[in-house]
Amino acid sequence: MYQKLNRTNIFYSFVFVVSCLAVSSCTAKEETMSTEQIDEVFSFATAQYKKATDTLDPKDGMPRNSYADGTWRQVPLNDWTVGFFPGCLWYIYEQNQDPLWQAEARKWTEQLEPLKTFNGHHDVGFMIYCSYGNGYRLTQDPAYKAIILEASDALATRYRPTAKTIQSWGKMDDPNEKTYRVIIDNMMNLEMLLWAEENGGPETLRDIVLAHANTTMKNHFRPDGSNYHLLEYDPETGEVVAKKTAQGYADETMWARGQAWGIYGFTVMYRQTGDKSYLDFAEKIANTYLSRLPADGVPLWDFDAPDDLLEKDASAAAIASSAFLELYEQTGKERYLQQAEATLAELSTDRYLAKGANYQGVLLHSVGHMPKRKEVDVNVNYADYYFLEALTRLKKTKQGVSCIN
Ligand code: GLY
Repeated sequence: MYQKLNRTNIFYSFVFVVSCLAVSSCTAKEETMSTEQIDEVFSFATAQYKKATDTLDPKDGMPRNSYADGTWRQVPLNDWTVGFFPGCLWYIYEQNQDPLWQAEARKWTEQLEPLKTFNGHHDVGFMIYCSYGNGYRLTQDPAYKAIILEASDALATRYRPTAKTIQSWGKMDDPNEKTYRVIIDNMMNLEMLLWAEENGGPETLRDIVLAHANTTMKNHFRPDGSNYHLLEYDPETGEVVAKKTAQGYADETMWARGQAWGIYGFTVMYRQTGDKSYLDFAEKIANTYLSRLPADGVPLWDFDAPDDLLEKDASAAAIASSAFLELYEQTGKERYLQQAEATLAELSTDRYLAKGANYQGVLLHSVGHMPKRKEVDVNVNYADYYFLEALTRLKKTKQGVSCIN
């Protein structure tokens, strides 16, 4: 119904407009981060990880989750997350350039040397490139280069030429398995293989990477740009037998971390190959993620999670933010920078930083494996790792240098 404009309405309209301006300027303020604010988060992370390195012994395993009571869950070397704790130490060292932190980063990285021949699953890229890869980037230690090259050769043994994919899980010669599995996360192992090929490894590594990425682009996504977490392939014919999930809510839903792995992986593919089809694909799946993202930039663990499982996943937000900073560098599109910065600002608030209780990790509220009810609403090393990586990238972007090197 038409409302007559009178003094009262004008007054309330004025109050409304002023309130909106106040709210939007508050939001805008929270959505950016100064270099000093990034440094403050790094100071917090450094203090947290100092407590960890002062107390933890590598003999008890590699740190994966920090708990409120000041303890950690430490895991054996074959766990996919073992590279992230040393990787966090390298990002802290990159900021403070303190030789003592380099020594800590080296100490924890070098626990992983036995993995140079590991091929028990596909996660060798996470394990070796986040640890030794950052170590080599920051120190140019030739011994680290040799380990990355050896590990890349070991990972390449999981390549299945018929379907043109690297097998993610399971033994390569298991007579009981009629199919084999590939998960979207596998896109994250390709960067190490490309690096290895460019740094003295065999040319076949590049062939394997291109084949795997192209097969993933063809099979692993729906027309709307959302990912399937897990595909089963027939090793004889190379045909896709099933499209499913393991860590998402259901086979046809969009698992948030999987989507973030895809955005990150295809952005790296463009950087390393210059092939525009990878950039176009990265942007397509990034836009699918962005179109469904809540206002605070932190997705639910699955974009289609039911009402009784509305947990956020800070790890997905951190991974996507890091990828968006590279996408911004590749495309110059402000949207990616704004989203990354706003999300990192949100993750840097007391809502997400592990400031309460006795946590020694950095970031709270990640979800590891909801269907198994494992690692729900926790601190986890891969969230810390990609958060520190993204903050490092944001700082470099603000300094006008490439965020990648
Ligand atoms: N790569 C396993 C995960 O993202 O949980």
